[in-house]
This record gives sequence, structure tokens and C-alpha cells, in this order.
Amino acid sequence: MASSEQPRTQWLGRWGFMLAATGSAVGLGNIWKFPYITGEFGGGAFVLVYLACIFAVGVPVMMTEIAFGRRGQGSPVDAIRRVVNASGRSSAWSLIGWMAMLCGFMILSFYVVVAGWSFSYLWKMLAGGLSGSSVDDMAAVFGANNANPLNLGFWSTLVTLLTMLIVGKGVQEGIEKSVSWMMPGLVIMLVILIGFGMFSGGFGAAVSFLFSFNAGSLSSEGLLAALGHAFFTLSLASGAILTYGSYLPKGASIGRTTVSVAVADTVVALMAGLAIFPVIFANGMNPGEGPGLIFMSLPLAFQAMPLGTLFGILFFLMLSMAALTSSISMVEATISWLCDNKGISRPAASWGTGIVLWLISTLAMLSFNLGAEWTLGGKNFFDWLDYLTSRWMMPLGGLGTVVLAGFVLKSDTFREELGLAPLPYALWLTMVRYVSPLGIVVIFVDALGVYQVSFAGHWPWLLAILVAMAALGETLSPRLRQALRTT
Ligand code: PHE
Repeated sequence: MASSEQPRTQWLGRWGFMLAATGSAVGLGNIWKFPYITGEFGGGAFVLVYLACIFAVGVPVMMTEIAFGRRGQGSPVDAIRRVVNASGRSSAWSLIGWMAMLCGFMILSFYVVVAGWSFSYLWKMLAGGLSGSSVDDMAAVFGANNANPLNLGFWSTLVTLLTMLIVGKGVQEGIEKSVSWMMPGLVIMLVILIGFGMFSGGFGAAVSFLFSFNAGSLSSEGLLAALGHAFFTLSLASGAILTYGSYLPKGASIGRTTVSVAVADTVVALMAGLAIFPVIFANGMNPGEGPGLIFMSLPLAFQAMPLGTLFGILFFLMLSMAALTSSISMVEATISWLCDNKGISRPAASWGTGIVLWLISTLAMLSFNLGAEWTLGGKNFFDWLDYLTSRWMMPLGGLGTVVLAGFVLKSDTFREELGLAPLPYALWLTMVRYVSPLGIVVIFVDALGVYQVSFAGHWPWLLAILVAMAALGETLSPRLRQALRTT
């Protein structure tokens, strides 16, 4: 335990953790993915379910991760091992930490490719905009951008380099400093873009699309997408939040900070929707366009509007910064683990990790051109990274974390670390023991393809199962805990 002899680095400013964690949470997930999945799953009803997932599953899991990080003072592997050992449980639980670390690294390997799209579009906009007058033209631009591995590789390499440069400078000098100007900058740009949207003529349509609740459009697929996205957008089960939490000063309130991060993340996602959809509707386009929404429909819409190129520049600059403040958090767990356990300097750890990352992300990048045919089970390398992390590793890691906190650790461990009053503590415990695990199991059942029925009409059943599980769990829990303890 070399690292515990020296006190661990802490965030310097009062806002250090808030900004860094919000920077991690706010990313391509909010600005690229959230609007297009909302478009695909029908708007308001999806938004409502998504909010429920953020607050019923996301917040309790995030609190647990931060508590693990701060209690264990280390990377996910070390922190979890220390906390479980202090409760007299097996070090094998630190496998959850290994998986989280790997998961963060794998996400980053494909995230730099999507972030590279954003940087390349920023460049295109700076160079005067895109030429094209239909979605097909824009699809051709997007296709050409992907088809050349040297071009695409250049942009993903640039993102990798910038990420490693920031992380290599350290927690305070690199991460904290960069988020302290990028995050406010991002919010300012988003507000300007919403202002642009207000005058575009499609604002009313966008508001009613995002906020009118139409229960008929709720599908089980939408529910599952909402749950999966809640994990991704809050950066859970990937080592990011846990490691950032390990730099959190003792006095800070975990509950309050977590709720602030979750609210900020949600507000930014909705703001991104309010910036994008007005422009889409004003130009009579389809909101359910899918992953191409902001790379095809949006640039086309900008093309058609006065000052569109200027706002296009602003949009892709904002997106690129949002991506960077997330990418640095994905690799921090690995860097922290290397520095604490292998006695290497931070810059050396960053560049070493950067080289491995570059190799793997290059393979992911090739999925869009040379390697498009290198598939296994119908998925290329990029798809596999996405599928394994979001469908399996994140839910599994989240499940492990809440089971560990809810049933395995000594009950006073997190009561102390979270420092909550009895009522909020009981609420957290109920969430962590029953609500979050149930939600996560639903994702699994779907991933296995077992459950084919629509959830939409089955809310009462789900609720009844939840209550029954809680009652059963509470009766059995002393025994259940006993059983898990002996593992
Ligand atoms: N939350 C980030 C986003 O919404 C993605 C992310 C996932 C960041 C995992 C860190 C860890 O884009």
C-alpha cells in the first residue's frame, strides 16, 4: 500500500470535484446520443423514463462509487480492496474494480473516434462549412470523412494526444485546470446556441417534442435504452467517478454533490435537445434520424440558415470540449493505478497508456474503413467495444457495486462515509439494495434476449415485484448477508 503512506492528492478548489465530475458526465452522451435516442424513442415519454432512471438508479450508484473512492483512497482496484478488507471480506471483490478500469479504457478506445468526428467537423466548419443541399449529400460528406483511414486516424490520434497531455499534467494542474475553463465555456456556448434556436422558428415544436408526455410511445426498448444511457451519461461503472471521488476532501457532502452532478448532467442533455431540435424542426427534418442526427441533419440545417456556419463552429467546438472533459476521466483510473502501484511518474504512465490506447483505438477507427469487414457475429471491432461496455460491463459493474455496498460491507461503513441523516440514508439503502439491482437485472434480461414483452402496459406488475422483492429481501437479508460474507 505504497500510496497510503503519502496523503493522496485532493482537488484544489471548492468546485474542483463538481466541475471534473460534471465534465466527465457531460459528453458525447449528452449532446450526440441523448438527442438522437430521444428522437428515436418518441420524445417526452422517453425523457420522463430517463429522468426516473437517473434519479432512481444513477444517483444511488454514483453516491456509492464516490464513497468507495473516498473511503479507499485509490484507483478502483485498490479502493475497493481496502474497503472490503476493512469489513473483513475477501479481496476477490476488487475484481469489480478491475472490470471498471478495463471498461473505462475500452470506452475511451471508441470514444476518441466519435470525438474525432467532432474535431473534424469543427475543422470543416472553420474552413467555411460543408457543401451539400440534402441529407444524402451530408451522408456522403460523413461517409467520405470516415472512408479515409489517414484522415479519420489523424483526428482520433489528435484526441488521444490531447487527452494524454491533460492527464499527464496531473489531477490539479491538468484535469482540474482544464475543466475549470472548459465547463463554463461549454455552458456559455450552449446558451448562445439555444438563443439561436429560439429565433429559428422551430423552438415551440422542439419544446413540445421534448416535454409533452405521450404514454403511448413508451416501449420496452425505450425503457432499456434509458436505463443503459443513465449509466453511460453519468460515467458509472467505468472507474471515472470512483477515482475522481478518491480526490474528494473528507468534509464534502457526497449526497449533495452527487445530486448536483446528476442535475447538471440532465440539464445539459435537455439544453442540448433545446439547441438541436429547433434547428431540425425549423428545417422540416426528421428528429428520429439516428446517430447521424448531429453530423448530417444538423450541419445541413445550419447550412440553410443565416450565420449558420458561425453557429456550426460554436456547436462543434462545444461538442469537442465536452468530449475532452469526458475522455480524460476515462483513463484516470488506469493512470492512478499505475502511479500508485508501479512507482512510475504520471507523465510516463500517461504516455505509456496513450500508446496502448492509440493502438486499440486505431483498430476501432479502422472499423469505418479498411476493417469494416473484420466482423465477428455481425459486429465490427468498434461495435464490440460499444456493445461489451454498455450492455455488459457497465450494468454488471453497477450491480456488483450496489450488492457490495448494500449487502456485503459492514453496515456502518457507508453510513459513516456518506454522513447522511437517518432518513436519506434509509432511502439510499433501499435504492441500493432493491431499486437499483432490479433496474440493472432488467437490462440483463433484455441483453440475453429472454424478455420480449413490452413493459409499457406492465408498470403495476413491475411495481408489485419491486415491493415483494423489498419485503422478501428485508426478511432474508440477515441470512443473505451472512451467506455473502462467507464468500
Ligand atoms: N458520461 C460521458 C458522456 O456522456 C461518457 C463517459 C462514460 C465518461 C464513462 C466517462 C466514463 O459522454
